[in-house]
Amino acid sequence: MSETGGARIGVFDSGVGGLTVLAALRRRLPAAQLLYVADSAHAPYGERSADYVLARSRALTRFLLDQGAQAVVVACNTATALAIDALRRDWPALPFVGIEPALKPALADAASVAVMATPATLASARFRALLAAHGGAHAPRLQPCPGLADAIETDGAQAPRTRERVAELCAPLRGCTRIVLGCTHYPLVADAIRATLGAVELLDPADAVAAQTLRVTSCLAPAAPGAALRFWSNGDASRLQRVARDCGLGAVAVEPLPAAPQPAPDAAR
Ligand code: DGL
Repeated sequence: MSETGGARIGVFDSGVGGLTVLAALRRRLPAAQLLYVADSAHAPYGERSADYVLARSRALTRFLLDQGAQAVVVACNTATALAIDALRRDWPALPFVGIEPALKPALADAASVAVMATPATLASARFRALLAAHGGAHAPRLQPCPGLADAIETDGAQAPRTRERVAELCAPLRGCTRIVLGCTHYPLVADAIRATLGAVELLDPADAVAAQTLRVTSCLAPAAPGAALRFWSNGDASRLQRVARDCGLGAVAVEPLPAAPQPAPDAAR
């Protein structure tokens, strides 16, 4: 794998979904060293408690700092909604970039809009505040998608169970012309969404996140030379490799993510 001397940036998600953001980061920051962590053993975050997601987000941030990350991209809408404020308080000198459903561009005109996201994201105070800021006259339809990130994670985006779940969740959205993809796993099922809803516009903020990461990290000193891309997972490495290939990241090596202290049992659900 090639080496670079750019900034070292940590990226995490509950699993393979954040690879859709990583691909955008790779395009915008070709000289950066990108460290990706897939917390697949603890997915889906979108059906966990806020305490659980925060405990996992802290553990993954600590791990990325141990690897020398100079900034962290939270490539997960759910962890951004539930944990990024606390992460910023915990590490005030560390730049964090999060991802949120693209409500502002989605609601800029009178299109009929739906937001697909995890139950935890849609229920979060952060999402409610975003909606209050940009909702205005055009209230979007909100579609929680329980089970969808899990199906993508465990069966794969093309599996019949995953495609059936997409069809069920999209059926009530017929007539919408614009869909906000509010979970980083969902761009992986874009073709299945279109198979149900036809030629809808899909809004994925991954490139905007990459552009913001470029702005935030441009003042960082270059790290010591290191691998351009590194991956860790506590789940199925071959699935991560397959999705990385599908996202245009090529053939990648995956290292095992060491187990960190678990959240207390009462925070688990
Ligand atoms: N990919 C994540 C998101 O953007 C989390 C999905 C999940 O683990 O439920 O919300």
